[in-house]
Amino acid sequence: MTRKGARDLIVGLDIGTSKVVAIVGGQTQDGRLEVVGLGSHPSRGMNKGVVVNIEATTQSIRRAVEEAELMAGCRIQSVFAGISGSHVKSFNSQGIVGVSHGEVSPHDVERVVAAARAMAIPADQKVLHVVPQEFIVDGQEGIQEPVGMAGVRLEAKVHMVTGGASAAQNIRRCIEGCGLRLDKLILEQLASSYAVLQPDERELGICLVDIGGGTSDIAVFKNGSIRHTAVIPVAGNQVTNDIAVAFRTPPQSAEDVKLKYGCAQPQLIKSSNEIEVPSVGDRPPRKLSRLTLTEVIRARYLELFQFIRKELHRSDFYDAIAGGVVLTGGSAKVEGVIELAEEVFDLPVRLGVPQNISGLTDVAQNPIYSTAVGLLLYGRQQIQGSPEPDADSLGYWLSRVQTWFKGHF
Ligand SMILES: Nc1ncnc2c1ncn2[C@@H]1O[C@H](COP(=O)(O)OP(=O)(O)OP(=O)(O)O)[C@@H](O)[C@H]1O
Ligand SMILES: [Mg+2]
Repeated sequence: MTRKGARDLIVGLDIGTSKVVAIVGGQTQDGRLEVVGLGSHPSRGMNKGVVVNIEATTQSIRRAVEEAELMAGCRIQSVFAGISGSHVKSFNSQGIVGVSHGEVSPHDVERVVAAARAMAIPADQKVLHVVPQEFIVDGQEGIQEPVGMAGVRLEAKVHMVTGGASAAQNIRRCIEGCGLRLDKLILEQLASSYAVLQPDERELGICLVDIGGGTSDIAVFKNGSIRHTAVIPVAGNQVTNDIAVAFRTPPQSAEDVKLKYGCAQPQLIKSSNEIEVPSVGDRPPRKLSRLTLTEVIRARYLELFQFIRKELHRSDFYDAIAGGVVLTGGSAKVEGVIELAEEVFDLPVRLGVPQNISGLTDVAQNPIYSTAVGLLLYGRQQIQGSPEPDADSLGYWLSRVQTWFKGHF
């Protein structure tokens, strides 16, 4: 990143189904991350979180990046980018090694993480993340920092995330097509979690759901680490489509009606409320009941939340999320959605808004930017390798190993 007289800048690139966001951040004196530039452009060429048109996606990225460059007064060279879609798979794995000299060394940690990731994965998938959850030394569970501990047997529990190799390659192609380098591809809900979750929520158990335009991305955290991830291909675009079909109105008008009058709880609406809806073709606009609109929206969100609830039961994590559910992403902003989610999950639910940033907060503190801000926070951690208590990337563990070495030689 080049910017006259400025410190190193980090760039997050969220290539969503609805919009592409480029966000530029730098470190302040007091250690906070300051957003100095943000560019957003409607996304063309994406469907349900994956690239379906390289040329159109490249164009959208270029526009968003140019806007961010203009605001930040810098040249963007490399980006941390998000990845999502139904091709993403995740599972937990374990590794075990003998400790070399009676005391766990950084090399042992590296070996045990490598043993845990040595799983046979399909040829069309590539590993995106290997996130250590905990270490076990001679049967003693729940160890976050095993280096220096006495023992003969070291085990590691890790969460592995894989993604379609071709989906990842297409994102890389679009980014490189704009003359940019890809620093790292990051699972979108993992990125969002950096922006919206509190450390105590990660500890107690929480389910994060990022409801965007094309996909709803789920991540479950417990005891400070990520435990489960899933992607459901149902989100805001389906709601818009339902409105278009039910009200026989063009998709763009359905989107406008949703943004202006959308609500998911009929009890919040007066039955006499009427809204004007454009018709298709050259027919004149009609007046329709807002209550009917609410019922159409509610039905789709109800289906989505029931899907998520089923997924939590299927993966056996429903009882682990005592902290409840955090909803983020643009589609979490519809009025009444939080209350509806509380009814379905029977757990406390809150709206997740990006935190831990300064600068442009009036713009960036919006659930539609959770992934973009999270990519910045993730990128900063990767670059600094700073020892944060809730850090959970392999890069973090390797940086801890490097720090340990520096301290000993
Ligand atoms: N104020 C709002 N009220 C209701 N819905 C909204 C609002 N703002 C955005 N949305 C909806 O949120 C969706 C877009 O959300 P978001 O920007 O998080 O998606 P995305 O990141 O581009 O897509 P994805 O993550 O699925 O690839 C759209 O369906 C849009 O209609
Ligand atoms: Mg998104």
